[in-house]
Amino acid sequence: MSGAATRPAFVIAVDGPAASGKGTLAAALGRAYALPVLDTGLLYRAVGVLTARAGADLDDAAAARAAAAALTADLLGDPALRTRAAGEAASRVAVHPGVRAALLDYQRAFARQEGGAVLDGRDIGTVICPDAPAKLYVTASPQVRAERRRLQLAARGEVVAIAEVLADIARRDDRDGGRAAAPMGPAPDAVLLDTTDMSIEQATDAARRIVEAARARWEAR
Ligand code: DC
Repeated sequence: MSGAATRPAFVIAVDGPAASGKGTLAAALGRAYALPVLDTGLLYRAVGVLTARAGADLDDAAAARAAAAALTADLLGDPALRTRAAGEAASRVAVHPGVRAALLDYQRAFARQEGGAVLDGRDIGTVICPDAPAKLYVTASPQVRAERRRLQLAARGEVVAIAEVLADIARRDDRDGGRAAAPMGPAPDAVLLDTTDMSIEQATDAARRIVEAARARWEAR
């Protein structure tokens, strides 16, 4: 369509709690629509890891903000960001408004690139890209999320008992959803997708249908 270049980018916002399947779905949507994908959780994980490596306390807002300001994209491939400790550290530094502010421009610039982008996180539909034409909020029961996370960690050599992973998830949900700055939650116009009883294929199909409907509305504007 000739008007495509003059339109705002087609942005797909995928939010949801830890291990809900949002990363897998964001990657699948990126492949389906040939759009670049940003896992914004990695940014917070990198800030958490950098803050800890600097020897600072994760509750130290100024130190965490300095780590966020020093962040460079080449750090995002570091396998250390995928560990259980990095997830917990990310959730802790993510409560600081200064950290969130320091990461805002990078995320918005990624979303604005020509053609569009897929971003997954906690506040994409509410704060980073409130005008995104397609918004999903992906959930699953805590038990199912814990088992998915346990398997992911085990595949990377980190063996953790299911009860501990479940406790991690409950703590992350409380902290991510309860913080004052950009708390995790669905945007009013997000479509909820509960993947508890779905295979990856079923969840991907459901996500594709949601995005197709959003894209049709966006094209028809
Ligand atoms: O998606 P993840 O589990 O890798 O995210 C790690 C933590 O980072 C999460 O518990 C909270 C924080 N986070 C956030 O506050 N906002 C985002 N957009 C993405 C992640």
